[in-house]
Amino acid sequence: MLPSRLAAENLPSADTALIELLLASGQSHLFADWDPAGTHTDAKRAFLDSLQTAHQSYPGGLPAYIANARKLLAEAAAGANPFECYTPEQPDLVDLSAFGPEYDEAEAAGLAAFAHTAVVLVAGGLGERLGYHGIKLDIPVETVESTSYLAHYASFLLAAGRRLGCQIPLVIMVSRDTDAGTRASLESHSHFGLDPAQVTILRQELVPALSDIQATLALDGKYRLALKPHGHGDIHMLLHTSGTARRLAASGIRHLLFIQDTNGQVFNAALAALGTSVKKGYDFNSIAVNRIPGEAVGGIARLKKPGAPDLTLNVEYNQLDPLLRATVSPEGDTPDARGFSRFPGNINLLAIRMEPYLRVLEKSSGIIAEFVNPKFADATRTTFKKPARLETMMQDLPKLFHSGEKTGVTVFDRTWCFSACKNNLAEAAAKVSQNGPPESASSAENDFYLAGREKLRMAGMAVEDAPATTIRGIPLVPGPRAILRPSFALTLADVRQRIHGGKISGDATLVLDGDIHLENCTLPPGSSLLIHAAPGAKVAVKNLTVSPGARYELEPLTDSELDSAEVPEFLRIRGYRLLNQGAKLHRFETPGHWTLDSTSL
Ligand code: UTP
Repeated sequence: MLPSRLAAENLPSADTALIELLLASGQSHLFADWDPAGTHTDAKRAFLDSLQTAHQSYPGGLPAYIANARKLLAEAAAGANPFECYTPEQPDLVDLSAFGPEYDEAEAAGLAAFAHTAVVLVAGGLGERLGYHGIKLDIPVETVESTSYLAHYASFLLAAGRRLGCQIPLVIMVSRDTDAGTRASLESHSHFGLDPAQVTILRQELVPALSDIQATLALDGKYRLALKPHGHGDIHMLLHTSGTARRLAASGIRHLLFIQDTNGQVFNAALAALGTSVKKGYDFNSIAVNRIPGEAVGGIARLKKPGAPDLTLNVEYNQLDPLLRATVSPEGDTPDARGFSRFPGNINLLAIRMEPYLRVLEKSSGIIAEFVNPKFADATRTTFKKPARLETMMQDLPKLFHSGEKTGVTVFDRTWCFSACKNNLAEAAAKVSQNGPPESASSAENDFYLAGREKLRMAGMAVEDAPATTIRGIPLVPGPRAILRPSFALTLADVRQRIHGGKISGDATLVLDGDIHLENCTLPPGSSLLIHAAPGAKVAVKNLTVSPGARYELEPLTDSELDSAEVPEFLRIRGYRLLNQGAKLHRFETPGHWTLDSTSL
């Protein structure tokens, strides 16, 4: 029963039911200051709508959220140590940080498995550190052709789908900050060539902020619920509650590959990681990087506890060292012979096997290992300095593995598999000065070309690096700019099959898009070769020396340009622009066999 002043509002039955639930959950303060019935109706409506959204987006509704919060807050107040009685050891891992037959085998197995894989892209993050005004997925990963992250990801799915004769599903998690922008981007680019039916968009909602240990829902005003992000672990909940995981499983999907919004390197490593999952029978495979002890990246450890199943989990770096000191290693996190920690760095790239995943989702309603991180106001540990909220991280899924699920790690060279665009230039430069990775738009572009060069080298091309430079505090090796599109090569075996010999200078640009064979080609300083072959067109380029004179030139932005709205923001976050001094794209749009020689340049 509602108190009479609320009953007098004549609210729809759904609202009445929710208010009753909230009153029963000790949240009467939400309505205590309401103005008389019939006044401020718009503000009251908006408030009730925000409560309804929060209620409907959480499994079990707001009463479940409040109950979960009370439990976790009580544990936090008691100072519970989540790693109590656990001993860390190196996880089960496969090291693919060097190339060779093992890598090639894993890639071949991964390509076959990709036919039964869906890609899950978490793209709900606001990107506060970067401060870009649009969605991060729209940022170009490179500036030769200015391909956005979303276009780049879609191009891999398209090329793989063509090769494998199937459609690879793409699930994108958006939030209220990225929903409209992501949809607009997909629509204005005709889904980047994907079938719209291939793409599923799931939207994460914010969760209520909590003002004290009783999980009292915080208000930002009389009729304004305080809301905060719940974290990227929402993806598991949404895949469950929307029925997407079950639908994908029913359509034959056996693995899910979880990727981030700005990592242009991901598909260099994804297939080899997936192949490793298949080969090793991993239910949960973390794609990870070598990390130096003490580095500010979570380390993946196998945690052992008497009487409990082993847990392979990301342990935050500031928890890992004390845990090691308290258990197996009084010196803390020590380096191995190569200088790396035994606990590889988590980069939140995951390959998860569908069958155990469905089981865990069913059992947990998709609520994955929530945690709370309250900043207590004083020693009584009952009130907070600022509102807290429950959070969830997608890499914590193994916390719910209790049926012998196999968890492992595949380690790759860092820049080969991960180079995100997360920081603005000032923050990135500060990271560099502390020997950390800059993770700026410029370093991400730098690493994108670096991977292209590495592939050329593996195919036997002589690659001369450009002299290193620094722009706005970020070290860069600006060339050669080598872009090998997924339509050109999905695997290293493809690259080796399509490129034979040749030479490229540090001041040259090469873009290969489509079915192209390059034999003994030379790109001297100041030259560019950009080829696009549409599906069905086969292009052969043999014994060609590209003439110099049509080049791309890197031009740092001036201080005033860096602040000028006239300069596109995607350049301002890099600190430079790339000027095309006459380079042209050679297009082959019709199916057939074509040759590109010096007469056609
Ligand atoms: P980031 O660590 O890059 O965080 O997230 P962020 O929120 O995007 O950026 P900052 O911290 O505000 O600067 C890693 C991945 O998780 C996604 C991001 O979009 C990114 O792909 N993410 C993060 C979500 O999808 N939802 C969230 O609530 C948080």
